[in-house]
Amino acid sequence: MLEEYGDDVVALNGALARRLAGEPLQYVFGHWPFRELDLDLDERVLIPRPETEELVDVAKKELAASEYAVEPLMLDLGCGSGAIGFSLLTELSSRGVHARLVALDASSEALDVAKQNARKHALHAVSFVVSDWFVTLDDSFRGRFDLIVSNPPYVSEDEFASLEPVVHCEPRRALVARDARGAGGFADVELIIRDARDWLAPSGVLVLEHGAAQRSVVLDACERAGYDEYHDVNDLAGHARILVARR
Ligand SMILES: C[S@@+](CC[C@H](N)C(=O)[O-])C[C@H]1O[C@@H](n2cnc3c(N)ncnc32)[C@H](O)[C@@H]1O
Repeated sequence: MLEEYGDDVVALNGALARRLAGEPLQYVFGHWPFRELDLDLDERVLIPRPETEELVDVAKKELAASEYAVEPLMLDLGCGSGAIGFSLLTELSSRGVHARLVALDASSEALDVAKQNARKHALHAVSFVVSDWFVTLDDSFRGRFDLIVSNPPYVSEDEFASLEPVVHCEPRRALVARDARGAGGFADVELIIRDARDWLAPSGVLVLEHGAAQRSVVLDACERAGYDEYHDVNDLAGHARILVARR
């Protein structure tokens, strides 16, 4: 009887062995839902988190309150699988808003996964950029983004060491910030807050996920960077995790 299902049994055993070896279920399955999308995922990208789904709601609300031309221009900084930017493109389009997206990541491997997801969901209004944050982003975009979204790495070495082992299967650079030694973890968030303002259109908005303990340093960084309005939004667990900063 089992012979009839031979290939399936082999595949199931393989999947079970990977899971038992500690691989996250999302990588074993090779895809996982994020809001309305089914995203292909593997060890080249972070597994999108449920709290990041809330960031998409905040970004949609902020974009609706913005003044923008017919087709808003968006930037997803550190796009990974494309979860945030692609959800925005899809959900805005079903409301009749046809946005354009620049999906940027320092990892060309992550961008390969993002490209695969864009093809899977027939998303054509996307351009892909490999860059260390804004360093090699084309200068012609300066001052033009109606919305910049980001879920950058904001975990310190100490925090990373204390996270559940399954997290260690994910790309380290997706989670651990560049100043992560010891109790650091703020450098990428700080750099994005500082530099994003120049790349925003006059009434453009930055919506950025950060660590729960970073609220006061995040707001101080907004003050230094000269944003006109900024505030933090609580996630569903009641933690201030999502910055909204308007130029
Ligand atoms: C926390 S993951 C977020 C991925 C995706 N946006 C999500 O929410 O699931 C951070 C992403 O930032 C990228 N990244 C890390 N450092 C970067 C840098 N200096 N410049 C651009 N991207 C960077 C990582 O490769 C990773 O894809």
